[in-house]
Formats: sequence, C-alpha cells, structure tokens
Amino acid sequence: MKAMSWALAVALVFAVAGSAHAGGWRHLGDAGRIERRPDGVVVQSGPARLQVSVHADGVFRVRLAPEGTLDGDASWAVVQGAQAAPVTIEETRDAVRVRAGDTVAIVHRAPLRVDFVDADGRALLAEDASLPMAWLPGEHGTRVRVWKSMPADEHYYGLGDKAGPLDRRGRAFAMWNSESYGWQGTTDPLYKSIPFFIGLRGGAAYGVFFDNAHRSSFDFGKESDGTLSFGAEDGPLDYYFIAGPQPAQVIERYTALTGRTPLPPLWSLGFQQSRYTYHPESKVREIARTLREHRIPSDAIYLDIDYQKGYAPFTVDRAQFPTFEKMIADLREAGLRTVLITDLHIKHDPDNGYAAFDSGMRNDAFIRNPDGSLYIGEVWPGDSVFPDFTLARVRDWWGGLYRDLAAMGAAGYWNDMNEPSVFNVPGNTMSLDAVHRMDDGTTRDHRAIHNVYGMLNARATYEGLLKLQPTQRPFVLTRAAYAGAQRYAATWTGDNTASWFHLAQSTPNLLSLGLSGMAMSGDDVGGFIGSPPPELLTRWFQLGAFNPVFRNHAATDTRPHEAWVDGPKHEALRREAIELRYRLMPYLYTAAEENARTGLPIMRPVFLAYPKAESFYGNDRDFLFGGDLFVAPVVDERLDAHPVSLPPGAWYAFGTSQRLVAAKEPIKLDPRPSPTPLYARAGAIVPMQALVQHTGETPKGPLELQVYLPDAGSQDCRGALYQDDGETFGYRDGRFLRVAYACSVDESAASVGAQVAHDGYAPWWNATRVTLFGVSRRPSSVRVDGKAIPGWKHDASAKTVTLDVQGGARDWKVEVVR
Ligand code: NOJ
Repeated sequence: MKAMSWALAVALVFAVAGSAHAGGWRHLGDAGRIERRPDGVVVQSGPARLQVSVHADGVFRVRLAPEGTLDGDASWAVVQGAQAAPVTIEETRDAVRVRAGDTVAIVHRAPLRVDFVDADGRALLAEDASLPMAWLPGEHGTRVRVWKSMPADEHYYGLGDKAGPLDRRGRAFAMWNSESYGWQGTTDPLYKSIPFFIGLRGGAAYGVFFDNAHRSSFDFGKESDGTLSFGAEDGPLDYYFIAGPQPAQVIERYTALTGRTPLPPLWSLGFQQSRYTYHPESKVREIARTLREHRIPSDAIYLDIDYQKGYAPFTVDRAQFPTFEKMIADLREAGLRTVLITDLHIKHDPDNGYAAFDSGMRNDAFIRNPDGSLYIGEVWPGDSVFPDFTLARVRDWWGGLYRDLAAMGAAGYWNDMNEPSVFNVPGNTMSLDAVHRMDDGTTRDHRAIHNVYGMLNARATYEGLLKLQPTQRPFVLTRAAYAGAQRYAATWTGDNTASWFHLAQSTPNLLSLGLSGMAMSGDDVGGFIGSPPPELLTRWFQLGAFNPVFRNHAATDTRPHEAWVDGPKHEALRREAIELRYRLMPYLYTAAEENARTGLPIMRPVFLAYPKAESFYGNDRDFLFGGDLFVAPVVDERLDAHPVSLPPGAWYAFGTSQRLVAAKEPIKLDPRPSPTPLYARAGAIVPMQALVQHTGETPKGPLELQVYLPDAGSQDCRGALYQDDGETFGYRDGRFLRVAYACSVDESAASVGAQVAHDGYAPWWNATRVTLFGVSRRPSSVRVDGKAIPGWKHDASAKTVTLDVQGGARDWKVEVVR
C-alpha cells in the first residue's frame, strides 16, 4: 500500500461515497458510474472500483480496488485464464444483474454490494447490506474484508486440513502456514493455507475461493451469529464465486481454476513405510527384508534426515550409507522405491565444498534481508539459507539439485519444513521483512509470500524432476501448501500424535483436503509423536488402507510402528487391511485417474455423492472411497457397539450378498478386532486383482469384477476401469485402457456388459472373473456374448454366481438367465 495514495483514497471515500465503521474500516458506499464490459461490469464508488466479471462457466470473479487501481493479475493459484462465456447484463434502478448460465450476480447500487442468486432468484450467497466490503490501512498494508449473510441451515467445508470437525460452521480460522508439532483439536493455523470453502444448504452447494496469499482469516459465524466473513491483512480483495448446485460441480470448477493433481505414479498408491529415521544402511535393508519376509505388501521406504551428512540437504552420509546407490537398487529389485527427504533449508556452509550452498551462492539463489545480507535461520543443519523460490531461475536451479539423487535411483522426494519452519525465533518462521524477488524485478516481503513459499518449493521440485526425467511421473510430498499445490505434490497432515483423537481427526482432515483440491493426501499412520498401543495402531492401518496416501511414519524416540511389532494377531489384521488395498488397486487407480481428470477426490464425504443426505453433513467418521465403497471405520476405543448408518439406497456388506438398506436405526457392529466395516453400493461394479506384494508385480490370474446387483429395473449399475503403464506420461499420447461396465436386472436375467471406451494399452489379464452378488436362485444358464458357457458356479449359501470371460480388453456381455 502506498501511503500517499491511501490518504487520498480515504479522504475521497469518506467525502463521496464511503462510510466509516468501528475500528476505522472503510466500507464501500453507493455505486457511481457503471462501465459495462463483455464479461461483466466495473463500478466506481468514490475512488474505489469494484469489478464483477464472469471468469468461466459457473465462475464469477469479484475484485475491489480501494484506490481505484486494480493490481496486476498475478496469482500463484489460478491457472485457468478467463474464458469467454455468454454474459447478459441488465441494469435497473437498484441494481445491475450480470447473468451467466444459471447464476446471476446482482450488483446492488446502494450500498454497492454483490449477491449471487440462481436462475430462479433464490439467494446463494448474499452480502449484508449493513456491512459492505471494506478496507483498513495499517502499518504493513491495507486489510480487506468481505461479510456475507449466513443462513441458519448452511454448512461450510474446505480450507484444507483444519483441526476439528469437517463442518466449519461456528468457528473462525487463520491462514498462515505454520509448523504445528503435536497440533490438537483447536490448533490453528496449521501447515497449509487453502482459502477455499464450500457452502452447502439443502443439497445445493457453491464455493468461494479468496485468492489472497497474505495472512488471511475466515469466520463462519463465530464473531457474529448469522454472518460469515473473510479477509486478509494485505493484498488484493479478489475472490471467485463458484456455482454448483452439485458439490461435485463446485470441486470440478475449483480444480479447473487452480489446477488438478497430475496422475500419480502407481507405486505411490501402494503402502509406504517411513520412520524418523531408518539409519544406517543396514537398518533400511532390514526393514525392507522384514516387509517382504512378513509378506506386508509395500511399495516405498522413506529416508528421513539422518541419511544426510550433518542434515545438509542433497548430501549423503557415506559413513552410514556406504553403498547408498546399491541399497536403492536392491530395494528397487525387491519392489520398494526409495523416497528421500530434501528439505529446502540449505546449510550455511561456505568454503567447505558443499555443492548446494556453493552453487546457490554462485546463482544468487538465496533470500536476503532488507539490508542485502543473507537471511540466515536455524533449522536441522544449524545455520541455513533459503532459496528464493519466487524467481523462476531459482526454481530452475533448485530443480537441478535433484540430478545426483535421481541418478542414484531415488524415486520420490519429500519437501518437509517448507512453511518454512525456522527454529528458535518468534513465530517459528522466516523474518517477515525478508525480501523475495519477483520475476518482474519487483520485490515482496515475506508477509506477502509466506503462504505460497512451500508450494513454490514443491513446484520447483516437481518441475525440476520433469526436466531431469521427462518421461517419469514425479512423486513429491509437501507439508506446506497454498491453493493450487495439488499440481505439484501430494501431502500429509504433519506431526500428529499416537492418540485416538488423531485417528478420528484423520478423516475430516483428509476429506477436507480432498474437497479443497488436494486429494492425494494421507496422515502419519500410527501417529508421529508417541507410541500407539497395539489396538490403536491396528485401527490406524485399517483406516489408512483407505487413504489416498497410505504411509506409516513415526518420530524418533517412539516405539517401532511397523505392522509386525505387536505379535501375530495384530499383524494379521494389519496385513489383511493392506492386502485389501492391493486387491482393490484397479479400483483405486481408476479413482486416482478420475481425480486427475475431474478433480473429484478419492476419499469423499457422503454429501458429495448424496448432497441431500443431510444426516451426513456432520458425519466426520465415515466416507466414500471412490464412488462405490462406503467405509465406516472404528476410530474410538469404546467397547460398546459400533453404529453404522448407511448412505441412501441399498448397500451390500463388501464381498458378500448381505444386502442392507439405509434405515432409521443404525446397524450395530461388534467393535472388537475385526476388519473395517466396508460396504458396496447396490449397483456397483468393482474391479479388483489378485494379491501382489508391490504394484510392480504382475497380478497372477484374471481381472476380478465384483458386481453388486441392484434392484430389478434400476438403471444405476456401473463401474469403470482405467489402466496404463503406471509410471510414464504415455497415457497423454493415448497409451491407456478405459473400460466402462454396466449391469441390469429384469425378471428373466441379470446382465453385465463391458465396453472398451479407449483401447490404447494392453492389460495384464487374459480373462475377467465376474462375480455377481445377490443371486439366490441357481440360474438356468449363463451366456457370454449370446452363447451358453460351461464352467460357471453358483454358490447357494453365498448367493453368488462366478464365471470367467475369456480375453483381455474387449467388449463382452454376460447374461445370467433365471
Ligand atoms: C518434521 C516432519 O513433519 C516429520 O514428518 C519428519 O519426520 C521430521 N520433520 C524430521 O524430518
């Protein structure tokens, strides 16, 4: 904020149109001149200007310039340029209506404010006429804020992984990426800033994305019942209204705006084993061996900071890891990828032959203080310097640092501590006056960049890896994020504790990350801090098996957290959970591809698929895994019954013909050690495979399709399968397979069909084993492509029919005739 022009603006606003409120806030006054544009309007109000435009189909953008000058259009989050959409503009005495599709922005003249309504005029998001948008100058910039009316029956979701319940109503949150060791239910802020939320009311949803990377805050009726507000300490008042009405549409539009998660490498969907820290080399080898000996399917081992020399990123401690490259190769041979931590703080280590520091200095890559000296902060290696990731050339330099590690065979990288975390200073982060340079030659202080710094770290890593290994899908795990970070990295929820509280908190966090664009997420299975009792650890494995990122991790000084540590009974339950995930890999990978293509998360709150199911609006425990499986995990220690309420419609207990219908009375299950309660939608077709020990192993046997028959006459029986090589970008050139499955039931037969929608990849199977659940009576015959086949099996007690369809990817039709 420039002080002179601010003073002028205040004077003019006060004199002409503005109104002063408590605390010195300047609120917008009445509308002056209205300029029509092809995409909307720009309205003058005193010296201030308000722009309301249609950005894309179903997406409106609102920008306020207190001083009349709309800043440059830079955004770290938005990747979708403004799209030409048909817009109509109508002016009346009281308002201007900007209409696009089914949504209308009503720009009221007195006072100037914006409401969003649907085509029938029903309010979606309305401003309180007594509290128009406002700004407030301060020492470090101009605060901005928006207030909206909050209907009594509206629920709020999103903002990334905040602590506490999924529904944000009645609480307030800050956005300031923060190292949060041992965070608890009321800790706020946490590691990420994703200023996007969804409002949901009576089955209809909308979204708001406030694109401001400064410290910001959201209040959902905490300060004042009936009012929600959001604002920031500086930076633009620039927000997007995202229309639904389906919650899934809001997510699709939000992820079109801020980008989607690229298709992850298949191995990253496998089970990942981590600890702070497996060292020396012999310990890593021992863990790999034990995973295989105990037949714990797994795909990755993480090396935390102790593999490095003096904790200096991009070094390897050869004394502890004498045959590092060979170790990585041996692990790889056993189907285990190595993921290396590479923190962003570079050890301040001049004249010591430390390449990352020396080359960074040569490239003028590090952040400086306002006086031009290097900014130095203490982290794991001691005094450290920090890359200036806002500069493209510095991101390039950083990306190049991975050359050696990639050549050594590492498969993935872990960008930790990138809030950034700095030890022994107030606020635990970089000095707010540290100077970040922009590509256009201007600078910003750390206040303006803090919340995007971690995302830019992940971006530099991701883009660097793409350059180094252009055919390989990178895997990056980041702790800090801003909106849009899903384009570069998967994430986890940081330093949780080995407590039942954190087990239960995992689901609302991961659901919220998925709703906020970051579907590839997980938590530290077992809890990072502390030592989980055996039952807690078992339950955590059982829940983690349904998380997009499934990683067991633990802090130093805690007892071992691996699957085998509590004897055969617990190990068997843990193994069973992991094995089910691997058996479901075709289904999970298909869900991951859907996420990459549409933004729809892998873990979904029930309301995403059933927006009218209001009884699930506050359900933090249960979720949908992909579109067709409902998970009702045990996340508390009580030993009374485990109640389960099913989503609308009919469901099957997974892998059985036991049919259940959402009833008023919840099902009560025995909570004692048992697999996680899991249900399949009646009408689901779930692709599965034979058990493997890692995703690189070719499943032996057919593709397995579980068909959960719906009621006769139901049109809603479907499934999908996506396959490709799991590691390259070949799919972008059409080298993938997509099959659509459907089924129907009538009086004479149950039919299941496969239709190959895209045939660009040869699958591993040469037969499909179809199991139909819910067939009580022995069929009279079974036909494949119109011809009766032998060899099918009816199991009267399981009420299943099983048959094989020969051939790989091809269209086929099965009829099970009554
Ligand atoms: C903090 C991370 O959150 C944790 O997962 C990691 O083990 C430690 N840093 C050590 O690198």
